[in-house]
Amino acid sequence: MQLRIDKFLADMGVGTRSEVKQYIRKKQVQLNGSIVAKPEQKVNPETDQITFQGQKVGYVEMEYFMLYKPQNCVSATTDATHKTVLDYINTKKRKDLFPVGRLDIDTEGLLLITNDGKLAHELLSPKKHVEKTYYAKIQGEVTKEDVAYFQHGLDIGEKDLTKPAMLHVITSDTISEIEVTITEGKYHQVKRMFEAVGKKVVYLKRISMGPLQLDETLQPGEYRELTEEEKAALLDTF
Ligand code: URA
Repeated sequence: MQLRIDKFLADMGVGTRSEVKQYIRKKQVQLNGSIVAKPEQKVNPETDQITFQGQKVGYVEMEYFMLYKPQNCVSATTDATHKTVLDYINTKKRKDLFPVGRLDIDTEGLLLITNDGKLAHELLSPKKHVEKTYYAKIQGEVTKEDVAYFQHGLDIGEKDLTKPAMLHVITSDTISEIEVTITEGKYHQVKRMFEAVGKKVVYLKRISMGPLQLDETLQPGEYRELTEEEKAALLDTF
């Protein structure tokens, strides 16, 4: 991977692009022991040694993966008994990846895995109301009244009612199929919302989070890196 040294130093927080250019002009930047003459100089941050004012500038690389979380694994970085979501990401370079939020052990679907703490914070912040859409199978008929209750807000035993949630009934039968969009992320939220209307979730799968959609070509347990467009869309949200 090659990138311009001024971009590399700016990305690593040494200064703005123009400040970095001045440091280069003042001969304060070295590449593998030689003074860097121009900001267009290409570097490989993984193999080159870059110093600013005599101090090594470490490379902090961000990684972003979309995992189709399967059932029977936990949304944690380590676990004594279960497989974790990180165990699926076998091409990761970084050791500091984590899942952005949690899905229950028996919930499937979209999970973002990254080491971008700032993005994770934004996506999970209750103030940002990031939309999460789930597909679910529900025991019992889901009715128009349920749609209205979800829209109004439900008492799931918290201080406040849940925020308005959009419930779309795909089929209503002994086992119903629905999609629901929520803007909060309370523990077991979807399951508890259905419990509040006397129904049980028997299958739950997250299909989107903010601008990110689960890639339909992925199978449970499979993952891929985010595309540049997906990363830009996520970062643009905030
Ligand atoms: N709501 C739930 O009940 N479980 C999940 O895993 C996610 C949302």
